[in-house]
Amino acid sequence: MRNAKQRRRPFSVRFHILTFGCQMNVADGDWLTQSLVSRGWTETAESDAQVYVVTTCSVREKPEQKVYSLLGRLKAYVDRDPDVFVAVGGCVAQQIGEEFWNRFPFVRLVFGTDGTAMVPQALERLVADPALRVSLLDFLDHYPEREQPEGGAVQAQAFVNIMQGCDNFCTYCIVPFTRGRQKSRAAGAVVAECEALMQRGARELTLLGQNVNSYGQDKHGDGTSFADLLGRIAAIPGLLRLKFTTSHPKDIAPEVVTAFGALPSLCPQLHLPVQSGSDAVLKAMGRKYTRARYLQTVRDLRQACPHIALTTDIIVGFPGETVRDFEDTLELMREVGFESSFSFKYSDRPGVRAEKMDFKVPEEEKARRLAILQELQDRMTLESLAAQVGSETDVLVEGQSRMQDGEHVFWRGRDGGGRIVNFSSPAPDLTGRMVRVRIVDAKKHSLTGEIRGEPW
Ligand code: 5AD
Ligand code: SF4
Repeated sequence: MRNAKQRRRPFSVRFHILTFGCQMNVADGDWLTQSLVSRGWTETAESDAQVYVVTTCSVREKPEQKVYSLLGRLKAYVDRDPDVFVAVGGCVAQQIGEEFWNRFPFVRLVFGTDGTAMVPQALERLVADPALRVSLLDFLDHYPEREQPEGGAVQAQAFVNIMQGCDNFCTYCIVPFTRGRQKSRAAGAVVAECEALMQRGARELTLLGQNVNSYGQDKHGDGTSFADLLGRIAAIPGLLRLKFTTSHPKDIAPEVVTAFGALPSLCPQLHLPVQSGSDAVLKAMGRKYTRARYLQTVRDLRQACPHIALTTDIIVGFPGETVRDFEDTLELMREVGFESSFSFKYSDRPGVRAEKMDFKVPEEEKARRLAILQELQDRMTLESLAAQVGSETDVLVEGQSRMQDGEHVFWRGRDGGGRIVNFSSPAPDLTGRMVRVRIVDAKKHSLTGEIRGEPW
């Protein structure tokens, strides 16, 4: 009975989105949610959905297995109601493609990142026609603009894609194969989306792309450089905070470095993946910068913005990495004093150049190096958090803290450097507000503060 009803009213459908991977996938999931809701669909709990959208990641480890085990879980819902179906998108979908529907007949849509813009229409067609399957895996030669859902308030923190894909082909990385060539979005479209988000209540904008510093430097650019784009967005009235990720050290322009000192809303934080501190390994990775150049960029950044919080990504055990190379990485970490870092054991990805390199580092040795590196980082993180104690800072509140003591209400937000700050306040709801906080304690990964004055 319900199935027949569902076919007659195809556009009032309960959906659930499951996201793996990077911030770009998270932002894609948010856009999809808004777009489907604006079509009258309803977001619901996993156990109650009729349509599932899974966005996948293949940058490391064994992501296919993760996706397959999730699909195994979702199959239970299909067994219960045969009209239930699944859409699989993102990097694993791009790699595995239509094979998904051989193994999992209830997967009726596969889409790559360039296909995301067309997913809402495709889902509507799939609901209306149960015999249909759709594949949106083609790479496009331009940034496919997405419809901008109208109205409705948004959260204080909003994300805006400025580009898609990557042209760097670092030798370990699968992204250029799964996300295609770099395609910058027109500056006018980016600025218009930022303005619309500000009007809907955003206060902090994060610009997203695989390599934002080369924004505009592909054939789709309209002459606007990344530094120009930052300047235009920073000038939007009401914007309190501007951030961006991810940056490639070889592409960060001097104008972007000086922007950290010149644009008051540009947050004093930068995620600048170094990957290794050894010139030999950087060369084998195809990173196209040296350790010395990276360190010079860090000095330039600190000159422009003395309190900038630097974070990074590091791979240990790249093929051919010697103990000496690894020690160079540890030394570079100490020299920079990263606030925090994401560190990974090198893992082979299918089809990338490093997969075929000799002198693979044994698994136990990679694990040993990773443990040493993470212990060093934990100590440095603690030290840099401890150095904040006694200072006052502005915190943009993200919501209630996970940890509550039952007596006070604890709120969680971030300072301009991206550090997590918890503090208590009896205010009924501080989500999306800015508060002045005095830092009184440093934990392993967060700060504790006391609120000062009125939120704004
Ligand atoms: N093995 C390990 N780590 C990887 N990364 C990318 N590809 C690999 C790989 N094959 C890491 C890099 C990158 C981050 C997103 O993932 O550090 O910056
Ligand atoms: Fe991968 Fe390198 Fe492109 Fe980053 S810059 S997405 S690591 S190829």
